Amino acid sequence: MTPKQKDLVRGTFTLLETKKEIVADLLYKKLFELEPKTQSLFRGDMQEQKRKLMRMLVIAVENLDNPEELRPMLFNLGQIHHSFGIEGHQFTSFGEAMMFSLKTVLGKDFTPDVEDAWKSVYLHLASTMHNHPHHDETVQLPHN
Ligand code: HEM
Repeated sequence: MTPKQKDLVRGTFTLLETKKEIVADLLYKKLFELEPKTQSLFRGDMQEQKRKLMRMLVIAVENLDNPEELRPMLFNLGQIHHSFGIEGHQFTSFGEAMMFSLKTVLGKDFTPDVEDAWKSVYLHLASTMHNHPHHDETVQLPHN
C-alpha cells in the first residue's frame, strides 16, 4: 500500500469507527445474502461477533505501518476459520460484503481511490489469514 492509500484508509476510518454497529450490521447482512449457508456457522452471539470483527479492523488500521505485528494474530485467526471450513470464495464474498458496507456508510466519500485502498487492506487481511501455512489456495480481490 502507498502512503496515500494508508491516509485514505485512516481518514475514512475516523467516520466508520463512529458507525461501527452499522458497518458490521451491513457487512453480515450482505454476507448472508451472498453466502446464505455461512449463517449457520455463526453459533455465538452475533452482537459479540460484530464487536470482535470491528475490533480486528481497528487493530488492522492502527497497524497499517507494522504488518509484522498483525501477522501472528492473522495466522491464528486463519486457523480458526480453517477449522470452520471457510473456503476461498467465501473470503471473496466477505470482501464484497465489506466493500458494500463501506460504500453504504461512506456515501460520496467512497471514491474509487478509497475503494482501492480498502481493497488492499482487505486483501492483506484475507490473504494472510487464508494463505497461512496449512493452505495453498489463493484469495482473490472482490470484483465490483
Ligand atoms: C478478513 C476476513 C475476516 C476477518 C478479519 C474475520 C474476523 C473474525 C474474528 C475476529 C472472529 C472472532 C474469532 C474469535 O472468537 O476468537 C471471527 C469468527 C468467525 N468468522 Fe470471521 N473473519 C473474516 C472472514 C470470515 C469469512 C470469509 C467467514 C465465512 C463466510 C467467516 C466466518 C466466521 C465464523 C463462522 C466465525 C465464528 C463465529 C462463532 O464463534 O460463532 N469469517 N472472524
